[in-house]
Amino acid sequence: MRILVTGSNGLLGRAVSRLLSTSGHNVVPLLRQGRPGGRGLRWDPDRGQIESTQLHNFDAVIHLAGENIAGRWSEEKKRRIRDSRVKATRTLCQALARRPTPPRVLVAASGVNYYGDRGEELLTEDSPPGEGFLPEVCVQWEAATQPAVEAGIRVVNLRFGMVLSTEGGALPKMLRPFRFGLGGPFGSGRQFMSWITLDDAVSIIRFAVEDEALQGPVNAVSPNPVPNREFARTLGAVLHRPALLPFPGFAARAVLGEMAEELLLSSIRAAPRRLEDAGYEFKWPDLRNALEAVLTREENV
Ligand SMILES: NC(=O)c1ccc[n+]([C@@H]2O[C@H](COP(=O)([O-])OP(=O)(O)OC[C@H]3O[C@@H](n4cnc5c(N)ncnc54)[C@H](OP(=O)(O)O)[C@@H]3O)[C@@H](O)[C@H]2O)c1
Repeated sequence: MRILVTGSNGLLGRAVSRLLSTSGHNVVPLLRQGRPGGRGLRWDPDRGQIESTQLHNFDAVIHLAGENIAGRWSEEKKRRIRDSRVKATRTLCQALARRPTPPRVLVAASGVNYYGDRGEELLTEDSPPGEGFLPEVCVQWEAATQPAVEAGIRVVNLRFGMVLSTEGGALPKMLRPFRFGLGGPFGSGRQFMSWITLDDAVSIIRFAVEDEALQGPVNAVSPNPVPNREFARTLGAVLHRPALLPFPGFAARAVLGEMAEELLLSSIRAAPRRLEDAGYEFKWPDLRNALEAVLTREENV
């Protein structure tokens, strides 16, 4: 297959491009204008510009681009988080819809942050969105794929949980205090964390490209979300370090502001209902095995 990938320099983009290229697919990156990134097609998502004629003859598109959400959220950072997802997705989907022969499938990233802070409620793809900045962004981000849906493209919106990898994302930042024996739960530690290994995340992207029955929102999370304190305990055990020092919620809010509230202290207990119904088999369903694999072995993606 000829597959277009946006966000190909990111954590998921690098891994999925590697996996698909080694499986014999022709992977073409769609890179941002003016940014380094080697060979590939170019677009300018900030300006909403894309040359739609260069998008001919693709069988599938994997859309992962978006401003990284880590860091303190100023108004400008929030604008970039929103626009790099909502505006950029609309630009891409409108261009794909204009093609005389559009791709058969678009696999587009979203996040379980769609659900917001929901305590112990088990969240499936049918659960309504939550409240807050990230839920609003996710709703608009998924809605921005509508031009592709209307053009008859099969669209899968993958709502990723926290992707576990030593190559990027949240885990490397969490590892530092744990390695010094200073790790522990965030806030009360009761908030649920929905997680997925990088290995499963990229297998799920490939599964979504290939499974012709899959469409719409799909939770890309392991079947075993855990409370944050259990995550901390398990990470400590795998690293053979204590994990007893809690990081108080008020301190997280003081240092990281709104981002701490929505990313670290929100409780999201998402279930991969659609993936399980579709027969996807998780390689790493259990947190302890997953962390051991991620931290002690070479990731095989
Ligand atoms: N990793 C996770 O835990 C996680 C969890 C939930 C959802 N997601 C979502 O999944 C997608 C991929 O995640 P990731 O971890 O691979 O992200 P990442 O490592 O931050 O990479 C995202 C890619 O997006 C592009 N990008 C960055 N800033 C941009 C901007 N202002 N405008 C347009 N494009 C921009 C860059 O690609 P180029 O330089 O190649 O253009 C970058 O490599 C993201 O949309 C993310 O929100 C990730």
